[in-house]
Amino acid sequence: MASPSSNANSQKATNVTWHNASVNREAISKRRGHKSVILWFTGLSGSGKSTLANAVNASLFEMGLSSYVLDGDNVRHGLCKDLGFSDSDREENIRRIGEVSKLFLDSGVIVLTAFVSPFRADREKARQLVGRSDFLEIYCAADLASCEKRDPKGLYSKARSGEIKDFTGISSPYEEPISPEIKLDTGRLDVETSVKKIVQKLITLELIPDRNI
Ligand code: ADX
Repeated sequence: MASPSSNANSQKATNVTWHNASVNREAISKRRGHKSVILWFTGLSGSGKSTLANAVNASLFEMGLSSYVLDGDNVRHGLCKDLGFSDSDREENIRRIGEVSKLFLDSGVIVLTAFVSPFRADREKARQLVGRSDFLEIYCAADLASCEKRDPKGLYSKARSGEIKDFTGISSPYEEPISPEIKLDTGRLDVETSVKKIVQKLITLELIPDRNI
């Protein structure tokens, strides 16, 4: 992995030196028979990001590939437990996930991130941390009405009543991707169809081998 210094906004520590890994990403990819990539799922709460990311992950697992899901709700129990939902906390949340995803990428693992990631600029920063071809933005485009109708965690009703502040789509903005690599109407499509579209895209881009799933 190249030193990330060109992308570092501000680095506090001095006297730290980049150490190159002796087992690099290319060698890992050759050994495992697939490339690593970041699949960045974005969309409203309840739009199906986690469900879809987990279903794609299960398919990749069945194909014998190395992959891992980073999920917003889960990561907020640990790595990001000090963050809330203000604009700046969300920015820091996505910055950390971008950096963690970059490490996964370097380890040869396909990383699937399921975060609302409502701000275009923050998603763009995550994309810019890595090479263009290493980042596929997947927009789970279920609209607000569908997400609110589903309301799997009862959060929309709490947001409407004012019990939850700064809730994406209600009292905090969601900026739609302008040109995502994949856009899925997760309000209508069933999970299986969406999984197939994503896996097919990975095959077409020659990131993973064409095996029957
Ligand atoms: S992000 O905006 O910083 O990307 P993230 O994906 O980590 O958000 O977390 C979103 C999840 O936290 C939602 O799926 C929902 O379950 C929960 N949540 C709790 N409060 C909020 C809120 N104010 N806005 C959005 N999601 C919230």
